[in-house]
Amino acid sequence: MEKQELRTFGRRHGKKLSARQTMLIDRVLPTISPTNLPANTGKILEIGFGAGEHLREIARQNPDKTVIGAEPFMNGVASLLSAITNESNVVRDEYKNIRIFADDVRDFLRQTDSQFEQIWILHPDPWPKARHEKRRLLHADFLKNLLNYLTPDGEIIIGTDHWEYFDWIVENAKNAGLHASTPDIDTIHTRYQTKNMAGTSAPKYLIIRA
Ligand SMILES: C[S@@+](CC[C@H](N)C(=O)[O-])C[C@H]1O[C@@H](n2cnc3c(N)ncnc32)[C@H](O)[C@@H]1O
Repeated sequence: MEKQELRTFGRRHGKKLSARQTMLIDRVLPTISPTNLPANTGKILEIGFGAGEHLREIARQNPDKTVIGAEPFMNGVASLLSAITNESNVVRDEYKNIRIFADDVRDFLRQTDSQFEQIWILHPDPWPKARHEKRRLLHADFLKNLLNYLTPDGEIIIGTDHWEYFDWIVENAKNAGLHASTPDIDTIHTRYQTKNMAGTSAPKYLIIRA
């Protein structure tokens, strides 16, 4: 029997959605699901996009690529939908390349045969209490599985301001024999980065290549 997966995210629903957000989830979300992805364009995946600030930025920077975001927190999904649609509730031109999977990325990965040039994970839930450590998403088995979804020169880019989780990921990746480097880079500031709940001076970044 397959081992049951532990939940890696906190909650799926937060404060009550506005009428417009509910309408966008009912009507627009189904039209931008990541099914039947075009075979001949490059693809980028962001896992746990939160409110989608970084996802929108990479969509604008890469108009010729399909940018897929996976996020089970519906208030985050609603924020992204509000930001990418105009007053007529139509997806704005600069965001037409966005596709959303509004659930656990592990379910998306089980159902896709796509390969990605980049897989971004920014500020993954740190689950700081020792008894919750098993809920951390970025353990070695998950990272090794992600490699199967990279193009030959693709990369997984992880950023977090939670330095203890960062060191834990680096150690797990190295023990699993993954090719990991810790470059000095910066990227756009997401909502979670601005909160900086870990209270550190800056996020640290890790790149894993196939
Ligand atoms: C701490 S928040 C960071 C959000 C955003 N990346 C940012 O920097 O503002 C982590 C996010 O990862 C999402 N998450 C956790 N486990 C996930 C999973 N298995 N699949 C997709 N998203 C997940 C959570 O729902 C949450 O929104």
